[in-house]
Amino acid sequence: MFDLDRFVADCRAALAADRSHKLVREVVAQAVLDPTSVLKGLGEPQRAGIHKLYHAPDLTILNVIWAPQMTIMPHNHQMWAVIGIYTGREDNIFWRRIPGAPGGRVEAAGAKALSAKDAEPLGGNIIHSVTNPIPRLTGAIHVYGGDFFGAERSEWDPESLEEGRYDVAKTMRLFEETNARD
Ligand SMILES: [Fe+2]
Repeated sequence: MFDLDRFVADCRAALAADRSHKLVREVVAQAVLDPTSVLKGLGEPQRAGIHKLYHAPDLTILNVIWAPQMTIMPHNHQMWAVIGIYTGREDNIFWRRIPGAPGGRVEAAGAKALSAKDAEPLGGNIIHSVTNPIPRLTGAIHVYGGDFFGAERSEWDPESLEEGRYDVAKTMRLFEETNARD
C-alpha cells in the first residue's frame, strides 16, 4: 500500500541525488502507477482542498483535491513541480508572456490532458491554469522543488490575463468555496 512516510523519504532521497525534478518524477510515477494503493493510503477524496503532506524549504508535497469542473487561474510556481494523478483528470493550459505587453499579459501556448497514472514534470518558469473537466473530484499528488507556501510568484487575472501577485490564501479559499457550492 502507498505509505506516506516512505513516499516522503523516497522524494527526499531523490532530491538529494539530483536537485532537478528528474528522480522525483520517477518516485511520483511509481506511486501513481497503482492508483488504488494511493487511494487506500491517502483516503478516497471527500472534499476539494490543498492538503499539505510535507513541507520544507526545499520540498513541498501536496494532496490536491480538485472540485468537479473547477478551474484555477493562470499562475507560476518559480520552482519545478511534478503532478501525479491518482484519480480523475486535470487539463492544464500552458501560458507564455506576450513580449512587451502591458500588465504582463499572457497568451495560451499549449495544453496537456492528464489522467490517472500520469506523472507530469513542470519546469521552474512554467505558467499554467488547471481545470478538472469531470463531474467528480480529482485527486493528485503535487511535489514542488521548494517552499510552495512561501515563494514570491505571480497569478494572472482570468478575465484580463494581466499579472498580479500570487495570493496563496486566496487560492486555498477558492478551493474551500467550491465545497459550499452544492
Ligand atoms: Fe500550479
